[in-house]
Amino acid sequence: MKIGIPKEIKNNENRVGMTPAGVFELTKRNHIVYIQTSAGFGSGFFDEDYQEAGAIILNSIEEVYASSDMIVKVKEPIQEEYQLIKPNQIVFTYFHFASSEILTKAMIKSDAICIAYETVEEADGSLPLLIPMSEVAGRMSIQQGAKYLEKPIKGRGVLLGGVPGVPPGKVLVLGAGIVGIQAAKMAAGLGAHVTIMDINMKQLRYVNDVMPNHVVTEFSSEYNIRKRIEESDLIIGGVLIKGAKAPKLITKDMLKNMRPGTVIVDVAVDQGGCFETTKATTHEDPTYIIDDVVHYCVANMPGAVPYTSTVALTNVTLPYVIKLANDGWEKACENNVPLSKGLNIVKGKVVYKEITEAFNWETEVT
Ligand SMILES: NC(=O)c1ccc[n+]([C@@H]2O[C@H](COP(=O)([O-])OP(=O)(O)OC[C@H]3O[C@@H](n4cnc5c(N)ncnc54)[C@H](O)[C@@H]3O)[C@@H](O)[C@H]2O)c1
Repeated sequence: MKIGIPKEIKNNENRVGMTPAGVFELTKRNHIVYIQTSAGFGSGFFDEDYQEAGAIILNSIEEVYASSDMIVKVKEPIQEEYQLIKPNQIVFTYFHFASSEILTKAMIKSDAICIAYETVEEADGSLPLLIPMSEVAGRMSIQQGAKYLEKPIKGRGVLLGGVPGVPPGKVLVLGAGIVGIQAAKMAAGLGAHVTIMDINMKQLRYVNDVMPNHVVTEFSSEYNIRKRIEESDLIIGGVLIKGAKAPKLITKDMLKNMRPGTVIVDVAVDQGGCFETTKATTHEDPTYIIDDVVHYCVANMPGAVPYTSTVALTNVTLPYVIKLANDGWEKACENNVPLSKGLNIVKGKVVYKEITEAFNWETEVT
């Protein structure tokens, strides 16, 4: 199969759909890989690295789309790319269709086969192509939180690990899922005192089993949260209720009970946020202050560490790319239920019912 990797053109996106290692796996199976020149620059990969792995470098995005049977990328296509997508072309990327009717209509019109990373789903309900980005964001939340606790950037002036004779800082993590566990692990590694809350006892039991003793689990309730926030230096929001907006676990009135300079990092901002005062920010201007509490609410945290994010993402997408390339989309999806759940739009038809529901379309999904 001919596989194309275009350069991402969405604002501030530095990731790329495939690493040279991924290209090598495809070319050694006799597939042809086209990559747009400089597509990997933002993630630290150069044209020569791709060439060495067997890719053919093309000069323009138009050539990549025109030459390929399958496009593998990171972000959803943006308007400039809509007309480049060909009928029957496989497009394998994050789409998040339910959040854009314009994109959905454009992909229906394209007659392409749109397979969305975010809906590829294992039998246990886990989403294997979303997990790495939650891992990155969870770990980053502590790195960012620790930075914004510094006084010159308006934090409390607390070193999370403390020093001999000075107790460590206190971190409260809301949600013991992928983000929460990675955050707790990083905070514990720095020597902070960590409390992690969830409503799922199974998750709390797991955390209790695997984490060191200075990571304490507590059931998530308004009463417990109100008590803990008064003494916390850094609070991480990593809750998720699948398919729903995040619950507002920290309301505006609670900010008054926090100490000035407390930092709150709302990783769940992409689902509306779990703090009432959350509004999405960017890497250019990541924080704002309300009632002396520093808010960090960047919606695409992994974008700041494109090398790690690209490698983490392509580690999990590559096995599916290989299946699609070897067998074609129909056979690959027939043989692999998790991959078949990624099918969102096929040759002009929406095949994922949550999309039609999101826009209140009456079309029946088959
Ligand atoms: N900002 C970013 O760049 C970025 C990057 C990756 C993921 N995210 C977001 O981070 C959020 C968490 O993702 P995840 O992969 O960890 O999800 P997850 O499903 O693995 O974990 C969510 C956890 O929240 C728990 N939870 C639900 N309600 C709760 C409550 N009231 N109190 C405490 N815990 C509660 C669930 O039981 C679950 O354990 C999602 O909204 C995801 O989209 C954001």
